[in-house]
Amino acid sequence: MTTAVIDPATLGTALPPSPKSKKLKGEDVGIPVRKMGLAYGDEMPTFWVGGNAFLTLLFSSFSANLPQGEDQFVHSVRLFQDKITDPVLKAQVRAFIGQEAHHSREHDALNEAMVKRGYRLDRIDRRMKNMNQWIRKHQSLAQQLAATVCGEHITALMADYALRDGELLAMTAEPTRTTWAWHSIEELEHKGVAFDVYDHLVGDRKLLHRTMRVLLVIFLAHNILDALLMMPRSGQMTNGKMWRDAFGLLRRMVNFSKSDYRDFFKPDYHPWQHDCRATLKEARLKYLNEGAV
Ligand SMILES: [Fe+2]
Ligand SMILES: [Fe+2]
Repeated sequence: MTTAVIDPATLGTALPPSPKSKKLKGEDVGIPVRKMGLAYGDEMPTFWVGGNAFLTLLFSSFSANLPQGEDQFVHSVRLFQDKITDPVLKAQVRAFIGQEAHHSREHDALNEAMVKRGYRLDRIDRRMKNMNQWIRKHQSLAQQLAATVCGEHITALMADYALRDGELLAMTAEPTRTTWAWHSIEELEHKGVAFDVYDHLVGDRKLLHRTMRVLLVIFLAHNILDALLMMPRSGQMTNGKMWRDAFGLLRRMVNFSKSDYRDFFKPDYHPWQHDCRATLKEARLKYLNEGAV
């Protein structure tokens, strides 16, 4: 087991007050909780990823996983919350819960907008709800937290790609560009939290590695299949250029992330070995206008 709590002064936007003097807030530990409340009205193009139907439906499928998926992430961390004694990690957990709750709300609104356009993301949400019930009934607390750590690694890889490569966000129409940029920023800000809780209170790396292999297959299979099932409605099934562009971008994404994915299996791995502070600083300014002088 490794000591894995990161010094918040190196991650946050503000210096932390002494833990003795007051309760640490999210912004003190580099995990500020932001409220977005974006509107996904009629002006939002239906194929908001560069007009590409498959990419839009793939990321819509992913978005449909998020409200229930992130609810399970929060649930699994809460199972261990009262055992955490470190004041910094306690504050990080509170902020992680706050950020994930806002992600769920924002993605609910985006998903609802796609349902109104005839894409049945509500079915995916229902399946995720059933899956959560099954997981909570049949999986141990350690298994549930391990799945969260793995889910957080996958989302951090996607976030890092989105913010550092920039192509996907550049082709994504507003308001969804801001939604995904904000969500990516916060996924990177809190990427070490579930890992640190696991490392301190469970620590079984073999369980983590087994879980990751299974979870990645389930995650990819579900999202790709769900997107394909919604494709006939788009009227774009025979659009060859759309398929070529979509697979070109996905190939680029996989090539970008594969070595960082593999690092997860190193014996001494910690999410902050991938230091993304510079990426975060730039992205906060570019997408959220934070840190402007
Ligand atoms: Fe999230
Ligand atoms: Fe997360």
